[in-house]
Amino acid sequence: MPVIVISNPKGGTGKSTTSLVLATTLARHGASVTAFDCDPNRHLVAWKDGPSRSRVEVIGHADSTNIARMLKAEAARQQFVIADLEGTASLMVASAILAADLVLIPTQGSAMDASQARRAISFIEDQAVAVGPRPYRVLFTRTKPGFATRDERVIRETLAAAGVPMMATDLAERAAYRSMFTFRQSLEELDPQAVNGLDKALENADALAGEVMDALRGVRKAA
Ligand SMILES: Nc1ncnc2c1ncn2[C@@H]1O[C@H](COP(=O)(O)OP(=O)(O)O)[C@@H](O)[C@H]1O
Ligand SMILES: [Mg+2]
Repeated sequence: MPVIVISNPKGGTGKSTTSLVLATTLARHGASVTAFDCDPNRHLVAWKDGPSRSRVEVIGHADSTNIARMLKAEAARQQFVIADLEGTASLMVASAILAADLVLIPTQGSAMDASQARRAISFIEDQAVAVGPRPYRVLFTRTKPGFATRDERVIRETLAAAGVPMMATDLAERAAYRSMFTFRQSLEELDPQAVNGLDKALENADALAGEVMDALRGVRKAA
């Protein structure tokens, strides 16, 4: 089943957060999910060592010599495979993108982040010339719900004018997404009394997972 790769050569754009939100949300809806932790900070491996009862499986030992094979092997047995990549342009990142059915590029709404997203896109488009289409979408992260800054609007317009595909759903700034890592739990396991806006975080996660499924269906149709 599909391999979804989360990539951006810049650190701190929300790759690990997006990976965990997506993996645990798909699992909450009953799917079997493996998340590959290819971030040297090993946030997902640390999360899996915690008390969560989520059925998400985490693999933390893939390297640049076996990542594509390992992603494909997991895809043969699991309903979803998600790969949280390191924040550099490396051989491992290239191999993972080649094995992906969909690449998500998390980006915050600043010019510096957007220019790094463009690097990721150029890299993906270069691979596409060699091996055929590599479907991807830019995903805006840490946005303020219901309030787009001027920078964000300009960046979206610029990307749209360049024909860059973007997710309609953002991963908004929510304390709950940080708490998942603090308490090493899934959103639904967090204490709604202790975590602000948990219901909104769950709604946003569902919308994101829904749009990712739609995007994957579109990719399959086009193939
Ligand atoms: N949607 C979000 N809401 C709240 N905090 C976020 C969100 N996305 C990322 N963060 C925070 O931003 C920082 C960087 O996010 P992270 O997912 O680790 O990025 P990356 O994996 O790209 O380096 C972390 O402190 C994380 O908790
Ligand atoms: Mg990370």
